[in-house]
Amino acid sequence: MEKRNIPISLPSMGQEEWEATKEPIFSGWITQGPKIAQFEKIFAERHKVKHAIAVSNCTTALHLALVALDIKAGDEVIVPAFTWVSTANAIMYCGATPVFIDIDIRTFNIDTKQIAQKITSKTKAIIPVHLFGLCANVDEIKKIAPQLKIVEDGACAAGAGIENRPAGSLGDIGCFSFHPRKSVTTGEGGMLTTNNDVLAERLNMLRNHGASISEEQRHKGPKPYILPEFDMVGYNYRMTDIQGAVGVVQLKKLDQFIDERQQWANYYTNELSKINWLSTPHIPNGYKHGWQSYVLLIDEKKSPIKRNDLMELLQQKGISTRPGTHAVHMLSYYAKTFNIKPSDFPQAFAANEYSMSIPLHNKMVKEDYEYVVHNLKSIK
Ligand SMILES: Cc1ncc(COP(=O)(O)O)c(C=O)c1O
Repeated sequence: MEKRNIPISLPSMGQEEWEATKEPIFSGWITQGPKIAQFEKIFAERHKVKHAIAVSNCTTALHLALVALDIKAGDEVIVPAFTWVSTANAIMYCGATPVFIDIDIRTFNIDTKQIAQKITSKTKAIIPVHLFGLCANVDEIKKIAPQLKIVEDGACAAGAGIENRPAGSLGDIGCFSFHPRKSVTTGEGGMLTTNNDVLAERLNMLRNHGASISEEQRHKGPKPYILPEFDMVGYNYRMTDIQGAVGVVQLKKLDQFIDERQQWANYYTNELSKINWLSTPHIPNGYKHGWQSYVLLIDEKKSPIKRNDLMELLQQKGISTRPGTHAVHMLSYYAKTFNIKPSDFPQAFAANEYSMSIPLHNKMVKEDYEYVVHNLKSIK
């Protein structure tokens, strides 16, 4: 087969997104304004929640979610050990303590069986991560720990869900990312979701310095010269209207993007499950995967090649891969600060060492998928 170059991910943007940016650019209203309001409205509708609040990225969304829930020094927040570092960092921003829990290696999501034993009188919240677009078992978490606030880290899970219940509607607050590696992107960007009016109001103020009204409300109101009241210490975590305009266009394509990814994920699974040293993604019954990433697990006891050597070999063939994500408890800051050994969370360790994400995105064509499969099958 002729060599191809396949990046791990590519944003699917074009003329429509480009055209959409013109309106805010020429209107004179560039920061959070009418485009963000429109983006929030359609995001809330798609995810079946009362409120969606746009912010600068998912890390700031996670931070604000915890602040809105009054998480502070002395509190403990449960988090899976295998996730992007910012899930744990958001807890650190609040001065609270992340309490790591191992994952279920089949789903890469938090192992709900291990939650009960980690709950103390200080535990206030839990952040189930819907890793790679597959929802964590939030229903089970609610049964085990009804007293805990639930912040869904749905960074990878726009459009995903459990039966007909979308990610972001399952817990108290949902957080999403629009980083370019996500299925829909605004360059950088984030969204908070909630059905709780009081939390929505707090999040709305917290993202805008704690101001009682937004800048748009002030400028377009009868007294633009009167500055708002500030009742709390807030942040500037706003998203721009230029991004909002792009988000509106992208969000309309979300379901089409996921359907396409689902079709090619099925192709990968059909083909790659024939390789005895690879495990393909496991999807529990009734779960709708968002397919932000397609992540394999390599059984190095059976494989003719180690994971990192395989990634190197595929790179030489023009196929870019990545580890699924990292085990946060193995990152030097967390390992040292909390005195954790890699073996304390063996499944997160295994995922860190043996997972491999292969290209799956909406700029890929049939020949790209066939090329990836062909190269993986050729490894002897
Ligand atoms: C699970 C998870 N949480 C949080 C984030 C942070 O998102 P952002 O880059 O929008 O801050 C990411 C980003 O990749 C992620 O994968």
